[in-house]
Amino acid sequence: MPATTLADMETSNGTVRPAVIADLDAMIAVRQRSIGALSEAYSNDVLRGWQQHDESTYLAGMVDDELALVAEQDARLVGMVALDLDKQELVLLFTDPAYQGRGVGTALLRKLEHLACEYGLATLNLEATQNAVSYYRRTGYRERPVERSRRCQSLGVPSTPMHRSLETMQNPYQQRICRLLSDLDLPADYGARHRLKVHPEAFALTSIGSDVFEREQKLLPAAADAWLTMQQTARDDGIDLLVISAYRSVDYQVDLIRRKCDRGQCVEDILKVSAAPGFSEHHSGRAIDITGSDTEPLEEIFEDTAAFAWLMQHAGRFGFRLSYPRDNRHGIAYEPWHWYYTAN
Ligand code: DAL
Ligand code: ZN
Repeated sequence: MPATTLADMETSNGTVRPAVIADLDAMIAVRQRSIGALSEAYSNDVLRGWQQHDESTYLAGMVDDELALVAEQDARLVGMVALDLDKQELVLLFTDPAYQGRGVGTALLRKLEHLACEYGLATLNLEATQNAVSYYRRTGYRERPVERSRRCQSLGVPSTPMHRSLETMQNPYQQRICRLLSDLDLPADYGARHRLKVHPEAFALTSIGSDVFEREQKLLPAAADAWLTMQQTARDDGIDLLVISAYRSVDYQVDLIRRKCDRGQCVEDILKVSAAPGFSEHHSGRAIDITGSDTEPLEEIFEDTAAFAWLMQHAGRFGFRLSYPRDNRHGIAYEPWHWYYTAN
């Protein structure tokens, strides 16, 4: 199957965009109308049970996590789909019956496949209700052996587990990252498990001077400007902010993980403190590890310093946010030193 570009989808099929919480009611309404139109395929009992199953909490969670998409045409919300990262599964693909046959569902499907590629997934699963099996076959999916619990069955709707390889959808960088995970014996579903996207390596980096180990460090120009301004402002307030690490290439991250493996650390422990190659925010040229003048670098105790208190109060103003707070959803250990530049 040839790769489909996002631009193709958006010009020929209206707009597909990430869902926001304000879309929830309209999304549920599209689901209900779409199920209601399946009276030729299912008995009234099955349709009633399916419609009555409340999926709003499940869906709201995915909207919150930016894992749901909606299609708009004629200024109306006409379709939806979501990515269940735990099951690596495309779920809840529904098109308003009045807009079926116009490519809305396929535009949603393809954009969701691109989203799955951003999480480093090489395969995407789904459960096709019986009315949809031939559609999914036409769009590249094939029946797969059942190896886990089936969501649609739990709704009382017969379904067929299917899947497709995403290899032809992945860009060369995403393909390289999948190969690296395999070479390093890291889980193929690392991105989905940790809810981390692949970060492209930055180019056109600019120097921000030396780190505490006298190595030159670099960031994207906008992040570098923001960092240097923030550092100077902190200094004016009597706070020293020092750099430990900024841009890191994928090769650097590979070496980091290999060295830890060679020292005998187990993979689970390594991945709590180092992101797998391709998934580290440091590749983006936007992440910076910061310390103060009176503390050990990369230690949790940094949170007790005046430098950390200053960052918590002021970093947001300069476009930086703390990526890995305590108990974060990525399964990464608390990193009070790791800050990410979010502005454009
Ligand atoms: N220490 C963070 C998670 C990284 O390796 O990017
Ligand atoms: Zn870091």
